[in-house]
Amino acid sequence: MSEPLLTIDNLVTRFPTKRGRLTAVDGVSLTLERRESLGLVGESGSGKSVLGLSVMRLVQPPGKIESGAIRFDGHSLLDLDEEGMRQLRGRRLAMIFQDPTATLNPVFTIGEQIAEVLRWHTPEMSPAEMRERVTEMLDRVGIPNAGRRLNDYPHEFSGGMQQRVIIAAALILNPHLVIADEPTTALDVTVQAQILDLLRRLKDGEPETAIILVSHDLGVVGEMCERIAVMYAGNLVEVAPADDILDDPKHPYTVGLIASIPRLDREVGALSPIPGRLADPVSPPPGCKFNPRCAHAFDRCRVERPVLKTIAPGRQVACHLHD
Ligand SMILES: Nc1ncnc2c1ncn2[C@@H]1O[C@H](COP(=O)(O)OP(=O)(O)OP(=O)(O)O)[C@@H](O)[C@H]1O
Ligand SMILES: [Mg+2]
Repeated sequence: MSEPLLTIDNLVTRFPTKRGRLTAVDGVSLTLERRESLGLVGESGSGKSVLGLSVMRLVQPPGKIESGAIRFDGHSLLDLDEEGMRQLRGRRLAMIFQDPTATLNPVFTIGEQIAEVLRWHTPEMSPAEMRERVTEMLDRVGIPNAGRRLNDYPHEFSGGMQQRVIIAAALILNPHLVIADEPTTALDVTVQAQILDLLRRLKDGEPETAIILVSHDLGVVGEMCERIAVMYAGNLVEVAPADDILDDPKHPYTVGLIASIPRLDREVGALSPIPGRLADPVSPPPGCKFNPRCAHAFDRCRVERPVLKTIAPGRQVACHLHD
């Protein structure tokens, strides 16, 4: 078999804080095959964005990747210099951020901002070709009158349309991996559904692109992704095909997440959010970080940190209950 598109090996990313070292990503190992779609879920603060930023090598200093390795598309990302990373970003590796207003620059037109990606990576393209390519891309992401709207500024677009523009910029060079970090949370519900549908269609029509979709909504990733990785307090606690996770979750944390998915067949108010709070990333509890919130915790869970183990083909879980 050929090498996976992405191999993350024991990655640790930390931020120095006044209270001490904050471990946002705590020894994550994960592989992604070419063209695969993986959902990354977990409560707020579990380290999903920092994991994505680590792969992009965009962690804000003084935060930094302290150890581990990332192989992507034949490159060892942590050994590349900044110029090498810049060559990959946009062209092979792209990230879509949660908030479109923070990504788009208010003083440049939409057309200019998307063309910027082309100017950087394919300087041989003529301005006319670039214009054509940008128009085509805006058209693909569902922006009406793309040819004219090219000359508009971000504030002339609604939030949903801005997010479409960002998706266009991320996908214009057919990257091999797109990390979409909560691409719809800033949008209202109807527009959210449209954007997710757009991402799904773009992915299906784009045979070379793999996607990591970050979300705290297991329902959404269950529909969109082939595989799901569940993150808790910087650790991956369960990784499995989407159907397996939804039908038969193994980790008590995943069980809790699934119980909190709103469902039509359950009464409003029947949602059961997981009791307790996310482990403190500066001084996490010893043993399994989830143990203080876990109804099944036993002695070993309070002293020994479980590692992610394969329990069935394609299924991994980090939990002493499944040893
Ligand atoms: N720039 C930063 N400086 C200090 N701490 C940070 C920084 N960015 C993230 N963190 C911390 O790292 C941890 C993981 O944060 P992260 O943003 O990755 O969570 P998340 O899973 O993406 O949450 P959300 O669902 O809210 O987006 C949190 O404790 C957060 O406070
Ligand atoms: Mg986040």
